[in-house]
Amino acid sequence: MLIVVPKVLTKEQVAASRMVTDDAKWIDGRATAGAQAAAVKQNMQLPDSAPEARQLSEMVLEALFKSPLFVSFALPLRVLPPMFNRYGSGQFFGSHVDGAIRGIPGTGARMRTDVSVTLFLSEPDEYDGGELCVVDSYGTHEIKLQAGDAVLYPATSLHHVKPLTRGFRVASFFWVQSMVRDERARTMLFDMDQTIQKLTTSLGVKNPEVVGLSGIYHNLIRYWADA
Ligand code: NI
Repeated sequence: MLIVVPKVLTKEQVAASRMVTDDAKWIDGRATAGAQAAAVKQNMQLPDSAPEARQLSEMVLEALFKSPLFVSFALPLRVLPPMFNRYGSGQFFGSHVDGAIRGIPGTGARMRTDVSVTLFLSEPDEYDGGELCVVDSYGTHEIKLQAGDAVLYPATSLHHVKPLTRGFRVASFFWVQSMVRDERARTMLFDMDQTIQKLTTSLGVKNPEVVGLSGIYHNLIRYWADA
């Protein structure tokens, strides 16, 4: 299952991010790719060590954790500090699956990548091509969002970024290790939580059945989650 989280960043935050990224020193994106991905990857990235990247990274994380939709879908345990990439005309990222395990910079710790996140920082009319294409059992989803919006999808998915034919596409990308490893369990919990939210709106938070269902939701989290 794939979801769009709209307006993670305000337009002001997007503009502030773009001031930083437009002036930044970009390096070859192959620096952070495994051998297989490097063979199909043609883009630029901000080095993790760049102070401006760290600042932006913190802003993106803070904004995301304020989003109930993000938390409900990802059930985050660990998050890799957001990174930033830029595609120019002719650049692309061929079909690949993201690496399963990544080191968390500066900590010596590692994490499993369960959910992939791309947050768009360029408006769709700033570039042609550059769609993020995610393949699942229902087909290929082409994603090109407003600046400030994010897409979340299972990190197990085959995906690619189509070649750009005009302009620049700037985005933030990173991974989440979920408290719930199994994607089917995670999806059912998400659907259940969203349904409970709707029932809460129509029946009220004190409704006995809403209270009962919320209890079942939390007990399922207790059953499935690692925290
Ligand atoms: Ni990828």
